[in-house]
Amino acid sequence: MSLLNTLSAELDQMGKAGTLKRELPLRGPQGAMVEIEGKGEVIMLTSNNYLGLANHPAIVEAAEKAERDFGYGLASVRFICGTQTIHRRLEERISEFFGTEETILYGSCWNANEGLFQTITTEDDAIVSDELNHASIIDGVRLAKSRKERYKNRDMADLRRVMEATRDSRNRVIMTDGVFSMEGSLAPLPEMVAIAREHGAFLVVDDSHGTGVLGKTGRGTAEELGVFGKIDAYTSTLGKALGGSHGGFTTGPRVLVDYLRQKSRPYLFSNTLPPAVVMGSMAALDLLEKDSTLVSRLRENTTRFRRALAARGVNIREGITPIVPILIGDTAKAIAMSAELLDRGVYVSGFGFPVVPQGQARLRCQISAAHTTEQLDRAANAIVQLAEKYGVLADA
Ligand SMILES: Cc1ncc(COP(=O)(O)O)c(C=O)c1O
Repeated sequence: MSLLNTLSAELDQMGKAGTLKRELPLRGPQGAMVEIEGKGEVIMLTSNNYLGLANHPAIVEAAEKAERDFGYGLASVRFICGTQTIHRRLEERISEFFGTEETILYGSCWNANEGLFQTITTEDDAIVSDELNHASIIDGVRLAKSRKERYKNRDMADLRRVMEATRDSRNRVIMTDGVFSMEGSLAPLPEMVAIAREHGAFLVVDDSHGTGVLGKTGRGTAEELGVFGKIDAYTSTLGKALGGSHGGFTTGPRVLVDYLRQKSRPYLFSNTLPPAVVMGSMAALDLLEKDSTLVSRLRENTTRFRRALAARGVNIREGITPIVPILIGDTAKAIAMSAELLDRGVYVSGFGFPVVPQGQARLRCQISAAHTTEQLDRAANAIVQLAEKYGVLADA
C-alpha cells in the first residue's frame, strides 16, 4: 500500500499547510443567494453565474421539455449515434452569435482546449501561449507534439520576441484567455490580432469568462475591445454565463471545425451533450440575443461593487470585468478571511499558491446580474469591515 501511504502523507501535509480545498454543499440551486448546509443563506459572490441564468425559469423549462422530447441521453459519441437535430441547431446558433463559419460542441471547454492543439499541430509547428492561460490550455498544449513557447502575461513585446524566435515553424498558433480568470484582466486583443496578421499566425481566444459577459451584446472580449470578427477561432464554455450547466465548444473557420470533427479525441471518444443541456443552452442564447439588459445590468453591478470597495481603500485589481480580485498577499490570511466572510453571510473564495503566484494570495469576488444593489452593498460592507480587521486596507 505504498501508493496510498504516499497520497495520504501529501494530504496530511496540505492539511497542515491549510491548503486543502473544501466543498460546501448548497441545499438548493445556484443564485445570487444560496443556502449552504450548516451555514444558512449567504450572498453568493464566487460563482461564474454572471448573467444569473443558472436557475432561470425559461432555461429550466427548456431543459425539461428537451428531456420529454429527446430523452435523457444518447449513450453515444457524436459520430456513432449521438447527434440529434438540436445538437446541429445549437452549433449553428453559436456560429451566428460569434459571427463564425462553424462550431463543434464538446462536453466542456476543458475538452475543447484538450482536443485542439494536439489535433491541429505537429512537430513542424509552434504553439505560443500566455503564461497565465487557464489550466485546460496548459494541459491541452502539453498533449501536442509541436514546439511550445510561453510569453509573459499580456506582454506584447514578449509575444513579439517569441514570434521572432519561432519564425522557422511551419504554422504558429497564438493562444490566449480573453479574460484571465484570477486577474479579471483582458488580453490585449487588438495588438494580438495585428501581431498574428503580421506573422501569418492563427489566433485562438478562450473566451470562457468573456462570453455573455463583455461587449455591448455579450459577444465577448473581442466585442469589448473592438475586434469582433477579427479573431481566427474561439473556445468557450456553456458552463458560465450561458446557463451555467455544462458543455463547451470551438468555433471558427469551417475547415478547422471539419478537421476537429474527424480527429479531435475528446469529441470522438466521449459522449455527446445531453438534450437538456443543449436546449437549456439554446434558451440562454435566446434570452441573451433578445435583449442585452442582463449584460448591462451585470456591468452596472460590477461598477457599483468595484467603486464601493476601491473608495474605502480595499486593494482590488482595477478593471471592468465582474471578476474582482482583492489582493491580500499571505495565503493563510486570505483563507482565514474567506472563512470569516462566510460566517458574516458572504461566500467568497480565497486563492493562494500554486493557483496564483507566491505572495499574491487573494479573495476573488465574482459579480452577477442577479445580485440586487442591496446584496452588493451588504457584501462590500462586510468585506471592508473584515479588511480593516485584518489590516489589509490600503491606508491601514
Ligand atoms: C479560461 C477557462 N477555460 C476553460 C475553462 C473550463 O471550462 P469548462 O468548465 O467548460 O470545462 C474554464 C473554467 O474555469 C476557464 O476559466
